[in-house]
Parts: sequence; structure tokens; C-alpha cells
Amino acid sequence: MNQYANIFQGTAFSSQSPKEVRVLQDHLFCINAQGMIEKIISPEHKDYQKIIQEFQDQENFNRLPEGQYFLPGFIDLHVHAPQWAQAGIALDIPLYEWLGHYTFPLEAKFSDLDFAQTVYEDLVGTLLANGSTTVQYFATFHKKSSYMLAEICAKKGQRGLVGKVVMDDPEANPEFCRDQSAESALQDTESFILAVQDLNRSTKQGVYPVVTPRFIPSCTDKVLKGLGKLAAKYDTHIQSHCSESDWAHGTVIDRFGKHDAFALNDFGLLSDKSVMAHCNFLDDDDAALFARTGTAIAHSPISNAYFANSVLPVAHLKSLGVEIGLDTDLSGGFSPSLYDNIKQAVMSSRMLEDGVNPALPAEERGVTGSRITVNEAFYLATAGGGESLSLPIGRLETDYAWDVQIIDTKTPAAKLPIFDKNEPLESIFQKILYLTRPENIQEVWVQGEKVHKRK
Ligand code: GUN
Ligand code: FE
Repeated sequence: MNQYANIFQGTAFSSQSPKEVRVLQDHLFCINAQGMIEKIISPEHKDYQKIIQEFQDQENFNRLPEGQYFLPGFIDLHVHAPQWAQAGIALDIPLYEWLGHYTFPLEAKFSDLDFAQTVYEDLVGTLLANGSTTVQYFATFHKKSSYMLAEICAKKGQRGLVGKVVMDDPEANPEFCRDQSAESALQDTESFILAVQDLNRSTKQGVYPVVTPRFIPSCTDKVLKGLGKLAAKYDTHIQSHCSESDWAHGTVIDRFGKHDAFALNDFGLLSDKSVMAHCNFLDDDDAALFARTGTAIAHSPISNAYFANSVLPVAHLKSLGVEIGLDTDLSGGFSPSLYDNIKQAVMSSRMLEDGVNPALPAEERGVTGSRITVNEAFYLATAGGGESLSLPIGRLETDYAWDVQIIDTKTPAAKLPIFDKNEPLESIFQKILYLTRPENIQEVWVQGEKVHKRK
């Protein structure tokens, strides 16, 4: 039994299907030296007492005190790391103006490595403190500071998937915020991929390079084609934005006479390791293409309320077999917390189902069958994210990484309203999802290593 690096005892919640959450009451979780869950032992198991007796006095035995629970670490599929510096501002204007007036000038500043380091260190620490153990990032078009973001993830112990953003079209991007040519963008992307793959060799939890055309409207055909080839050559993850708003969706139709999804596929950018942000305007043919290629949707419910002109029909897309995970989309979304996005995903789906215009009769107001439960939103933030990235994360099961957040429902400054000693664990779970704040996140572990402890 000494082969275990750590043993944890406590009650955990983990999705067992997109709609059902499994409660593992007082289980033992045995973690190996690689940070993987090697064994899960229930109190009924014959070895349960024996292992406790044997290990309880050892340093690597961790028993949760009363009122604390394990959740899988959250997986944030889409964050614009530089935009952390403008979180919460300028959300009253449309996407196109927001990009030009605020976002591109801010992103241009990430040529300054000192500024980049300050923002990125703060962001990665903040996301860990909010329970996000794996994050897929857009950095900027600068190769050096993008690599620095991967190094910061490696150092702080977060599983980071990082993209050097490609935006090369001189017609679409200001001179101060773009790649100088398709050729230089492809060269920079290739050397970025090689450098991050090298960094990954010495990083326990994994850091991965992501081929990242910002979105079709900011890229030339030449670069899109080259990026598809690079992703295939190095078997990398791929990320972009797809059919986000009326404007973004319409721009691609004007240029190619087809939807974003099919245009991206023509360039070799849809694969099992592709994650596309937003996707609000996918039709059923687009969704079938996503399902066929294994492409996942990153759902940004807060950001969508500002920029996407619509609510993503999560329930419908899931019924068509599309993989979906959750994200914050900083700073289109203002919050670094996937807890906030879980709540918004549920609330937006309810508004889609019921409709929003009280002047219409009830039967014409909404889209029947659109609501998702908080359990389903939890799935998006955990197991759904793992499936989207094709990584063994997001579930507390054997052969998955020990990526967890320990929730303290009794934190003095943020006590959850649990008054009944016999409150069912299912309702404690729902209170955790709706009411957890960073103050309740006691510890965060990634790949078997403690990477955050609440101060
Ligand atoms: N489309 C292209 N770039 C962006 C971005 O930075 N944020 C959002 N929300 N949409 C985009
Ligand atoms: Fe985005």
C-alpha cells in the first residue's frame, strides 16, 4: 500500500452522466506518484478499515474535517488571458466596437514582458483560487509573452493549454495589433508549439500548445490553411471563435457563402482536439459536423449575455451529440469564476425556455425543452470540459487525474446556510454550486499536488 503518494478520506461529488451526480460518501481516494486516482474505496469495502488503521497517522493521509467536501477541479475552456486587465469594463458596446476600442489596444501592450508577467501571474493565481485546475487560454499575437503564460501555468501547477493568437489580416486588424504576415504568423506558431511541447516534458500536470486563429474575420485564407496543417503535423489542440454574434456569423457567410463551422472544417481546423467558443448560431448541420469531427463547444453564458445576441441552446445541441464544456471568456465575461458561469448557464437556459418578452402569449414566448439543471451545468464545468479536451480530467474516478477543490461550507466569512445536521448530501451539493465563493475554496490540487491554499 506504500506505493500511494497520498490518501484522502471524505465525501465527494462527481458527475456520473450529463444529468446525474454521484455522491461518494466518506470514500478513500488513493493517489499514485503520477497524481492519478489509482483506487477509490467505499466504506463497505473489506479493506476500508484496514487502510485507515494503517495510514491515518501518516503525513500523506488527508481526512476532511466535517463540513468539507471534494469537488473535481473546474475546467475553463476559454479565457483571454490579457483581457484580465480589463475585466468588467466596456461591456455596454457591441463586440465589434469593443474589440477595436478596448481589446486590441490592450492586447498590443503584451509586447511588454514585465506587464505581461504581472497580469498573467495574477490571473493564473486568481483562476486557481476560484477552483479552475485546467484552463485553455488565448494569449496575444506575441510569441514571447504567450510562452511566458505557459511557463507561469507550469510553475504555479495549473494545467494550461495556451495559444499564441494568430490575427494576420491587414484589412481586419490594426497595424499595432497583428501578425506582420501569414508567413511570420505560421513560423511563430510553429516555434511556439515546439517550445511549449518541450516545456511540457518537465511539467507534471501538463502544459499544451494550442493552434489559435483568433476567428475567421481576423485571418487570411493562407494563414488558416497553414494553421490547419500545423495542428495536424504536431497533433495539437485547436481553438477559435465560431458563429458568436449576428455580426461575426454574418461576416463569415458574406466571405465564404457558408457557416463558420464548414469554413473552419475546410481549413482542417475541426478535430477531436478542437474547442470552439460561443457557437450560438450553429444550425443542425453545423452541429452534426461538430459531432462527427469530435469538435466541442466552449459555452460562455455570461459573455453571451453581452455579445452573442442570443442564448446558446445547450440542451438541443447536447441532444445532437455535441460535446460541450463551460468557460468564463474573460473579459467578454467579467467573472473569473466558473461558479458564476454555472449559475448563468442555468438561468440563461430557463430564459430561453420561458422566453423573455411578456407582451407575447406564454405559448409563443420561448423554446420548449431548453432548460438545463444545475447538475447538468456542473457536468459542463467538469466532465464535459475533460471530454472536450480529450484529457482524463473532470471526474473523480480511477485513472483520472487528482484535480480537486476542497470546499469548506463552514468558512466563518462565507458560511453556507446548512442548519440541519441531517441535510441530504444532494442539497448540500446544490448549495455549494450556488453559494460557493473563493473564501470557501480551502485547497486546490492538480495532478496530485497542492497548488492553492486559502489564506
Ligand atoms: N471574437 C474575436 N475576438 C474575440 C474576443 O476577444 N472576445 C470575444 N468575446 N469574441 C471575440
Ligand atoms: Fe472569446
